[in-house]
Amino acid sequence: MKMHFLIINGPNLNLLGKREVEIYGNQDFESYFSYLKESFSLIELSYFQSNHEGAIIDKIQDAQVNGIILNAAAYTHTSIAIRDAIAAVKTPVIEVHISDLSKRESFRQVSYLRDVCITCFMGYGLEGYKMAIEYFMEHN
Ligand code: DQA
Repeated sequence: MKMHFLIINGPNLNLLGKREVEIYGNQDFESYFSYLKESFSLIELSYFQSNHEGAIIDKIQDAQVNGIILNAAAYTHTSIAIRDAIAAVKTPVIEVHISDLSKRESFRQVSYLRDVCITCFMGYGLEGYKMAIEYFMEHN
């Protein structure tokens, strides 16, 4: 059976490529996702984006995949509910951030998700998603 990974992007990441391009770059996620699918043709990749906390929680609970790559965006710094969802399921989750949170505002230094995720890639731009897939493939 093919390995299957799910990428979940949280609020405002639907605006990638248009939003604060000096921080997040000018590529939209759909085109980056096409590149990922081409790069990893032997595995199955799915992508889900939502601006709604509950929809992200439902997706984490329902996912039948080998791993989840989660950029919860601003919910990273606020959501005990997303943290509890990650802790409640057996699916391993990797935390990803496009920007380097350690160099940004102090409120972004707090992650409610960090210690329930298996690892975190941040500050590598969109390549952090690719690094997360490679991490899962190496550790599966
Ligand atoms: C982000 C960082 C968060 O602090 C921010 O709220 C985002 C994106 C990142 O990918 O760098 O929306 O998760």
